[in-house]
Amino acid sequence: MNDKDEPIIKETKDGSTTLFSAQFDQHYHNPNGAVTESRYVFFETTGLTKSLATKTPLTIFETGFGTGLNFLLCIDYLQKLGSETPVTFKSIEAYPISPETARKLSFGDEPFLNRQTSLLADIFGRIKPGNNRFEITPFLQLELFYGLFDEYPGFSISAELPNNFSSYIFHDPFSPDVNPELWTPNVFEKLISVSSSEIILATYCAATSARAAMAVAGWNVARAKGALGKREMTLASKNAEKLLSFKRVNEKRLIERFKDGDFS
Ligand SMILES: C[S@@+](CC[C@H](N)C(=O)[O-])C[C@H]1O[C@@H](n2cnc3c(N)ncnc32)[C@H](O)[C@@H]1O
Repeated sequence: MNDKDEPIIKETKDGSTTLFSAQFDQHYHNPNGAVTESRYVFFETTGLTKSLATKTPLTIFETGFGTGLNFLLCIDYLQKLGSETPVTFKSIEAYPISPETARKLSFGDEPFLNRQTSLLADIFGRIKPGNNRFEITPFLQLELFYGLFDEYPGFSISAELPNNFSSYIFHDPFSPDVNPELWTPNVFEKLISVSSSEIILATYCAATSARAAMAVAGWNVARAKGALGKREMTLASKNAEKLLSFKRVNEKRLIERFKDGDFS
């Protein structure tokens, strides 16, 4: 990223920082609270915090590494739980921030997270285009693909590596109006191809067009209460039983509307 494109640091209402991207004309997180929203959407509503407390190995797949906040939260939960769950955290990022920006991030009243900015700066300082692997602890591995989502090689080889299937997907691009290429049926087909049968996909986004794209790709889709005053967020799974505690959308109707061109 050129200096002129480097995102600008902004404080959110829970005291944690986010970034503003001029390229996408959007904040990376909810201005009402970056840390609060990320914990709620990706770790609490999905049930991931409970899974991290078991010893079953799991893979988390993220679209958009951004500031690395979700990854740091993963380290934070593992540390607080004293968990020895083997976790592989896979993430894709086309426009990584500079180590200098990473070093300046802060996470409000979260001393553990605040101590991790040097780890973030180190990661951003070392990544090269393509796949990058970091052993963070004996139990936690980061696989960060530096490149466009469409260039990620893992979608074509996943069928040969069933043990690598993801248990949780954090679908965290910018919103569909500014980042439309990451909200298409084709994207959600690729994501389903790297998912285990028990997958939970979570996103802060509640747009009907995004839910329709998921339904067209074969996902079961549900609405959940949104974070910090947002009315709703979205969960999806291959397995409808994983969504029993949430209100399902009408996938059939959304697929019809998608085919009728309601969202083009
Ligand atoms: C909302 S931010 C992600 C926030 C992040 N998960 C965090 O915890 O800070 C969206 C990210 O998606 C990245 N992005 C947007 N389009 C992309 C694409 N086509 N391929 C890969 N990354 C993309 C952006 O550069 C940005 O870092």
